[in-house]
Amino acid sequence: MSNFSAIDLRRAFGCFPTGVTVVTTRTGDGRRVGFTANSFTSVSMSPPLVLVCLDQRASVHESFANAPGFVVNILAGDQKETAVRFASKVADRFEGVACDDSGAGLPILRGNAAFFECVLDQAIPAGDHTILIGQVVGMDDTDAPALGYHGGSFNQLARPERADKNVAASDQPLVKA
Ligand SMILES: Cc1cc2nc3c(=O)[nH]c(=O)nc-3n(C[C@H](O)[C@H](O)[C@H](O)COP(=O)(O)O)c2cc1C
Repeated sequence: MSNFSAIDLRRAFGCFPTGVTVVTTRTGDGRRVGFTANSFTSVSMSPPLVLVCLDQRASVHESFANAPGFVVNILAGDQKETAVRFASKVADRFEGVACDDSGAGLPILRGNAAFFECVLDQAIPAGDHTILIGQVVGMDDTDAPALGYHGGSFNQLARPERADKNVAASDQPLVKA
């Protein structure tokens, strides 16, 4: 028993500001599929792991649960329309969206702030969602400001001077697409 409703819970979750991603993959018969997600989290440096939580009721759930990998596209501040599109019921979410294919044929959205190409490491059922844990096998990043999401609204996050640009060169390169 709880003393809060699903609406209360959603509102409280929305107090945590996040970035916005579009997670993409390709089905066994070659169709591109994707969904907007703000549940993205970095998990581990070695091995490099990330996660995203996917609703088990989503139309794309089976496609992602059965795919060997996926791409997490971190949306740039000017990609709000893309975020809305990939959360909508349009027949083809990729129509009119500029994409490139990774070496493995997974869709990478052009103009993103960064992306992580992943091999599916684990798909863990958790309540009404599935936690997709991916091992990063390729990535790239830019200085573009990121799209933010807070309290149910999108916003463009200001890009401060990078605090991480002088990270010691002793860091071993992990992977780069
Ligand atoms: C900002 C934002 C963040 C979202 N984050 C998630 C998420 O992390 N996981 C998820 O399963 N759905 C998330 N959604 C919802 C899905 O994008 C969308 O509802 C889903 O793709 C539609 O399901 P359908 O394919 O069954 O139509 C989010 C939607 C928005 C607008």
